[in-house]
Amino acid sequence: MHFSKTAALAVTPLLVSAAPSLETRQAVQKVTVNLATKYQTIDGFGFSGAFQRANLIVNLAEPKKTQVLDLLFNTTTGAGFSIVRNGIGSTIDSSRDYMNTILPKCPSSPTGEPTYVWDGKDSGQLFLSQQAVKYGVKTFYGNAWSAPGCMKSNKQDMNGGSLCGLSGTNCGDWKQAYANYLVKYVQLYAEAGVKVTHLGFLNEPDFSTSYASMQSSGSQAAEFIKVLRPTLDKANLTDVGINCCEATGWSVASQHASQIASAGAESMVYAMTSHEYTSRISGTMRTTRRVWQTEYCDLNGAWSTGWYSNGGAGDGFTWANTVFNGIVNSNLSAYLYWEGVQDRATNNNPNEKLILIDGQNFVVSKRLWAFAQFRVVRPGAVRVAASGGSNLKSAGFVNTDGSVAVVIINSAASAQTVGITTTGVTLTNPVITAWVTDNSNDMKEVVVTLQTDKSATASVPARGMISFLVKEGAVPPVVG
Ligand SMILES: *[C@@H]1O[C@H](CO)[C@@H](O)[C@H](O)[C@H]1NC(C)=O
Ligand SMILES: *[C@@H]1O[C@H](CO)[C@@H](O)[C@H](O)[C@H]1NC(C)=O
Ligand SMILES: *[C@@H]1O[C@H](CO)[C@@H](O)[C@H](O)[C@H]1NC(C)=O
Repeated sequence: MHFSKTAALAVTPLLVSAAPSLETRQAVQKVTVNLATKYQTIDGFGFSGAFQRANLIVNLAEPKKTQVLDLLFNTTTGAGFSIVRNGIGSTIDSSRDYMNTILPKCPSSPTGEPTYVWDGKDSGQLFLSQQAVKYGVKTFYGNAWSAPGCMKSNKQDMNGGSLCGLSGTNCGDWKQAYANYLVKYVQLYAEAGVKVTHLGFLNEPDFSTSYASMQSSGSQAAEFIKVLRPTLDKANLTDVGINCCEATGWSVASQHASQIASAGAESMVYAMTSHEYTSRISGTMRTTRRVWQTEYCDLNGAWSTGWYSNGGAGDGFTWANTVFNGIVNSNLSAYLYWEGVQDRATNNNPNEKLILIDGQNFVVSKRLWAFAQFRVVRPGAVRVAASGGSNLKSAGFVNTDGSVAVVIINSAASAQTVGITTTGVTLTNPVITAWVTDNSNDMKEVVVTLQTDKSATASVPARGMISFLVKEGAVPPVVG
């Protein structure tokens, strides 16, 4: 597109012309977005409220409850998150941070009639999901950390063990029972007004620990996928995508993807999913499926709300770069943080969460605002080529409504003027809005200037981030 100056001036007060401003006297760093060079489709950005964290929001009084929900989901004032990852519980109760299961007791045999127990809460996650629906969220990822213990080789939902019926086990065949159980969970959510769009049946299957955990290789996962896919289809849930396998890190996730492909189950998977704890995301995964990063956070640092403090692991600026790297360099279609909210007591208050909920008060980290800079990229957007400028990292996207989103990180230690130009389409009446985040701003709207060369310029702070949204405005009436 080319930006047409006169038309734009007619409608938007944000576009100022007249004498060259201070920013236009600086060297403009030119970023070109080429809409004709297309890459992956974006499913969105998200977080989880698993392990009873959603209850921290449930238990907040108004107006703080709505303030926290706005920070997470509002597309004009908050992060505009578009994916919620819910933990499908596997414990018999919800003491401590356990998530209770809908099947506290298995029938005596795998083919026996199960007695499901639905508490209408799902550890606070149903409330969180129903609120998300009100903000327009359409992607709900139900993800089991483990099958109920009664379906597993070690007879408990924690400390590893395997789903009975997979190769290498000798404890009956509970694959179909587990698939039926997951379908039941999707149906219970549907009855409560939340459409679970994606389903996962493992979490960190390469790690055995003292909370819900279940071991699996990619080959074993493929054996279960071949049961789960037809079970979903028979229940008329053909549009629920199966995600797999939530490895602790990228290298194991890549092995899972290759084993699933070898076993002939790749086409039954929607997204290959990875975490970033044991190996960071780098390069692209060999798969024909979409790839999501579904859980990561800074587990080591002390709670911090800073944007830039020497590049610390919990810094907002560090997270801006982490998400950017996944989307632009590693072809990810989704990036999810671990917890949206958490209290002070858990794990000695690290940066596991985006918002600290401390009793009836809350504190927002800049990590949330790093994600918020991506809120201009809506689900279904296609990433396109973007490049140019010194010390700038830029990413371009075309949203399904035709608007163009440009997300830019300024790595320089000084402010810069960025000028964006797009090629590939012409808008007659563009309305261009931009927002910045740095140490002192949170998605603050800034002035955009349309230049005579048809680029749109704005100033991005030192080690800051700027996001542009270019929309076709209403065509102004002809005057005269
Ligand atoms: C998002 O925030 C704006 C501004 O406060 C508000 O008008 C709007 O209702 C909020 N959106 C939702 C879905 O609550
Ligand atoms: C199957 O699902 C589709 C789409 O969700 C719905 O329109 C249709 O009514 C369902 N059919 C049955 C038999 O449940
Ligand atoms: C990126 O992911 C898409 C699926 O979303 C896939 O079709 C494409 O081949 C991937 N590209 C690269 C370079 O891996």
